[in-house]
Amino acid sequence: MGQALDRVLTGKRILLGVSGSIAVYKAVELLRTLMREGAEVSVVMTEAATKFVAPLTFEVLSRKPVATDLFAAHQEMLHLTLPEEADVLVIAPATAHTLAKLALGLGDDLLSTMVLTASCPLIVAPAMDGGMWDHPTVQEHVAQLRARGVTVLDPIEGPLASGKIGKGRLTDEQTIVASIEACLLPARDLAGQRVMVSAGPTQEPIDPVRFLSNRSSGKMGYALAQAARERGADVLLVSGPTALPVPPGVRCLHVETAEDMAKALTTNFRWSTIVIMAAAVADFRPDKPSGQKIKKQTGAWKTLALAPTEDILHTLSRQRTRQILVGFAAETEALLPHARKKLQDKDLDLIVANDVTADGAGFGSDHNAATLLTRDCTSTALPLMPKRELADRILDALQPIIKRAAMPKPR
Ligand code: CTP
Repeated sequence: MGQALDRVLTGKRILLGVSGSIAVYKAVELLRTLMREGAEVSVVMTEAATKFVAPLTFEVLSRKPVATDLFAAHQEMLHLTLPEEADVLVIAPATAHTLAKLALGLGDDLLSTMVLTASCPLIVAPAMDGGMWDHPTVQEHVAQLRARGVTVLDPIEGPLASGKIGKGRLTDEQTIVASIEACLLPARDLAGQRVMVSAGPTQEPIDPVRFLSNRSSGKMGYALAQAARERGADVLLVSGPTALPVPPGVRCLHVETAEDMAKALTTNFRWSTIVIMAAAVADFRPDKPSGQKIKKQTGAWKTLALAPTEDILHTLSRQRTRQILVGFAAETEALLPHARKKLQDKDLDLIVANDVTADGAGFGSDHNAATLLTRDCTSTALPLMPKRELADRILDALQPIIKRAAMPKPR
């Protein structure tokens, strides 16, 4: 479990359909595993399934009422709402009768009606005795379902409840969980890439207790690191001070100042294939930070001498061998002209231009809107959306650039 990623199932909504086979007791174990992995599971049973195990068992373990009756559930429109809310619908065990109903599109009970209204991925794990699996009608139904994109997990061979040996046992739990995870995992289009993401603000000390910083929360950079990891990349996050947890599977170097950040990024630059500079790096630092706390004085503190920091992206773009470079442009006016200039000056492949004064967007917010500008002059305006979603859109926009970079250069 958790093969490609830690805790893919956390927070995912799984609709578990249980139909009437002796293997119903195995669905109880499956439910426990899914719950342990952090999924939210709603169970729907056919009437036949309730003859094997009482709904109460599933109810207690899922901590939710178990729906069984289309007509009782009708008032709450469960045949519509449950599938609408689900990330994946799994039927385990599925009887030969259930397979037939799914193949034909019958809807004579809650479970089969739900399958007709569901638009999420459907996984079916059949279990049946007495050679039913090999019956041509069953095989025809399985083929029809597969042709429609349903994942049908072959039953396994072994001793059956009847005492016979044959192919009909519900496939093992690991296979079911792995195929649920495979449905839930996003595209792994960054597998093999080494992505370095910078995030958050930097803090430039004035004295041991005071510093200059900015309003960056780090949310955009952390969302990018998480998205890149989920898409299969090896990810190194170089983070200024933030209050955010490091996404699972992401390596993180914590830094404070622009100088520390520059050091961490340049040291790891040769390792990386893609660099995304989402950090809000200070452009200036106090020239001579005091070693001791500066004491209160009467009257105004007239001047604080500042020295420029290194433009890290600029440095990296001059050192690049094959890396794809992505920058951010946080602007309060003339968004696109300023962003375009940064794209050119820093010799970037893509820049994410965002107006940090826009309502609901920018620093600290969970949402952002942006325009993506590329080196070859494409421009894509993205509306206000959660930063995690924006992260995926930015990574989507990198795909053609990655493909082009992988092509052999003309001689
Ligand atoms: N950046 C950097 N090093 C700096 C400052 C910025 O690498 N010392 C990076 C940022 O991480 C971002 C891009 O450069 O990806 C643009 O940063 P931004 O703050 O928008 O612009 P600046 O280049 O600092 O220019 P200005 O402050 O004048 O807008």
